[in-house]
Amino acid sequence: MYRTNTCGELRIGNVGQEVTLAGWVQRSRKMGGMTFVDLRDRYGITQLVFNEETNAELCAQANKLGREYVIQVKGTVNERYAKNEKIPTGDIEIIVSEMTVLNESLVPPFTIETNTDGGDDLRMKYRYLDLRRENVRANLELRHKFCIAVRNFLDSKGFLEIETPVLIGSTPEGARDFIVPSRMNPGQFYALPQSPQTLKQLLMVAGMDRYFQIAKCFRDEDLRADRQPEFTQIDCEMSFVTQNDILNTFEEMAKYLFKEVRHYDLGDTPFIRMPWHEAMRRFGSDKPDMRFGMEFVELKDTLGGTGTFGVFNDAKYIGGICAPGCAHYTRKQLDQLTDFVKSPQIGAKGLVHAKVNEDGTVKSSVDKFYTPEVLEQLKHKMDAKPGDLILIMSGDDAMKTRKQLCELRLEMGERLGLRDRNKFALLWVVDFPMFEWSEEEGRLLAMHHPFTAPRPQDVPLLDTDPASVLADAYDMVCNGVEVGGGSIRIHDAVLQAKIFKVLGFTPERAQEQFGFLMNAFKYGAPPHGGLAYGLDRWVSLFAGLDSIRDCIAFPKNNSGRDVMLDAPSRVDQKQLDELLIDVRPQTK
Ligand code: AMO
Repeated sequence: MYRTNTCGELRIGNVGQEVTLAGWVQRSRKMGGMTFVDLRDRYGITQLVFNEETNAELCAQANKLGREYVIQVKGTVNERYAKNEKIPTGDIEIIVSEMTVLNESLVPPFTIETNTDGGDDLRMKYRYLDLRRENVRANLELRHKFCIAVRNFLDSKGFLEIETPVLIGSTPEGARDFIVPSRMNPGQFYALPQSPQTLKQLLMVAGMDRYFQIAKCFRDEDLRADRQPEFTQIDCEMSFVTQNDILNTFEEMAKYLFKEVRHYDLGDTPFIRMPWHEAMRRFGSDKPDMRFGMEFVELKDTLGGTGTFGVFNDAKYIGGICAPGCAHYTRKQLDQLTDFVKSPQIGAKGLVHAKVNEDGTVKSSVDKFYTPEVLEQLKHKMDAKPGDLILIMSGDDAMKTRKQLCELRLEMGERLGLRDRNKFALLWVVDFPMFEWSEEEGRLLAMHHPFTAPRPQDVPLLDTDPASVLADAYDMVCNGVEVGGGSIRIHDAVLQAKIFKVLGFTPERAQEQFGFLMNAFKYGAPPHGGLAYGLDRWVSLFAGLDSIRDCIAFPKNNSGRDVMLDAPSRVDQKQLDELLIDVRPQTK
């Protein structure tokens, strides 16, 4: 046996026992004739003691140990004189009688401790060392617990876990596909699934009734803190259900996961179900952060045409938010906010502010254009109190301006400490538009995916006004993050063909790309629908992380690279020849 116990296990009750431990040298300290070594494994840290007086040779050996050496020690559990309350094993230490060095280690490129001196790139290059750090390891442990809870819940509800292939054809989800050449079919390519969408629908046609899979998905899209090119979904599908059945099932699952894994009680109140148009109007986002208010107030009636401020008079949309207690903001702080909204990522033209003084009077950056009565009306419309700061944005494109105001709302929420990571606010956003107009392609695109059913009452609009059709689709949102999304599917080949037509597919192209699905629907497809949760996003929310990367064992960096494996990389000419692939030199 390499060890009798782990490094996180021994307590005061074990004092006097002979034990064998194995692990990594976290750090060692020499104090007079004593050498103390912190021995670490996945389970914790145990202090080892070497005494020069009782065993000089062993102590000399211990003094030669470097950081991250792998050692095995035999010794006796002893009560510590100076206890360490910070670690669970802090009451005891091991008086070592024998030691074997199992493996030496180079000096690690950064300190393997929670507060490390290693930068992002370095830690990613040596991710296997980074993963030895307790806080990073804890994220993977949380992820594991999350997956077990997911399986337990879905199993208890009769879902079958079924794997689907990774080498498939294209599944459109709005991103680019990663493609894989086929040697046996030269000139042809597989696509990696953006999600198992069509396959799970086929499993419903196959009568599986309730399916789930913890599925790898691949999307070649621009990366952000909550996006990876390769990520994991908890992918689910159910037959003979309505939207209500699905929302109830997955709301119950969310509450279960919060309770079991995050030890957080979401209570019995059902989640709000907010129509998409309402979410955009009130928060400028289809994933509103509901941990705080600061809802948008439309001000076109109050400030458009009621004064001489041309910008507002010409604007199609004017919206404001009221930041409580921020009237004391200095010129510099207000300038910073203006710079924030004007930054290239947000792209607004400017920001107007109005402070409500302690005596209730209003002082605004556009005072000279408005009468005091109009500013008083503004205060009332915004329901602003003395000490509040009103922030106003305007623009020609209401949707665009709302999105910009949303960024400002989130920024103010952050500054005011209202986005507490230990508080959770969940909701459903429902009634998404079925289509969105693409300037680039000059046609309507599916907002979710082309298999999403329109709301039954909107089906006639497909012929007359497709752009206004709403979908039987929903997203679950937690703290401003889309943690899941899904829809009721079209199970009727005729309706599906009609949707493809609205999306601009010729019947031939629809048949070529989705024939397999449309044909399957001709063999008795049950009504069905489903949802996919983003596993990485859930775990990072539970762990309070800034980026989903931190809960993925081997993530990609912002350029989609695995810096540890140095992938992607070039391949041998021989491999390319076999695949009949010519790589052109890169042109600017
Ligand atoms: P959707 O595209 O909305 O739906 O994806 C479902 C959920 O997956 C997560 N997600 C991501 N997580 C990390 N990195 C990414 N690049 C990424 N993209 C998406 C999000 C999102 O809510 N087939 C449909 C689901 C369905 O209709 O059942 C789908 O994939 O949390």
